[in-house]
Amino acid sequence: MLDGAPSADLFADDPPQTGTARLGPQAYVLRGFALPWLDALWPALQSVITQAPFRHMETPGGQRMSVALTNCGALGWVSDRHGYRYTPRDPDSGLPWPALPAPLAELAREGARSTGFGRFEPDACLVNRYLPGARLSLHQDRDERDLSHPIVSVSLGLPALFIWGGLQRADRTERVPLLHGDVAVWGGVDRLRFHGIAPLRQAHHSLTGAQRINVTLRRAR
Ligand code: SIN
Ligand code: FE2
Repeated sequence: MLDGAPSADLFADDPPQTGTARLGPQAYVLRGFALPWLDALWPALQSVITQAPFRHMETPGGQRMSVALTNCGALGWVSDRHGYRYTPRDPDSGLPWPALPAPLAELAREGARSTGFGRFEPDACLVNRYLPGARLSLHQDRDERDLSHPIVSVSLGLPALFIWGGLQRADRTERVPLLHGDVAVWGGVDRLRFHGIAPLRQAHHSLTGAQRINVTLRRAR
């Protein structure tokens, strides 16, 4: 869908979508679900980013990730030469990660509840920043202790193509647009589906400028 885009501005500020896309028996994209939370959520995210700035981490293989990230909540996801893990402190500052903003926790609970995952209480919130060209290669989210909790993932700003695969790396993948305000939720039998993000296209969004922000809420412990 995004291939051959004639203009850099084509995908900025897509008209809000509604409804639910089903990606699997227990996987959904709730179109525009985060939009009512934006007025509370956006300033809260700015505060998080001020306290714990975005940084590019290294993969265990020694590659610099094109996505920049930070965290809030009791635990933050980090990557370095030693591997992937959750830590209670920001390794750059030595300080605890900023607190999880209440509107984000509420959005995560509501997103989970409305897709059949009751009693979801996130303790880890990863904030990813994609500039044009940034991508996330195919992976599973499997660093969490109890995989019965779902993943709730909020997209803000520039649109992206979510690469959605199966339970095996080699399984067929589909490409699903994730637009500003969309909330993806996956869990249960779909919890370990491989997924990633295709290289972000250059464009401008009225809220975020030339970037996409993804906020992924999880129960890590
Ligand atoms: C992730 O898989 O951690 C992020 C996915 C996204 O950016 O939508
Ligand atoms: Fe992921």
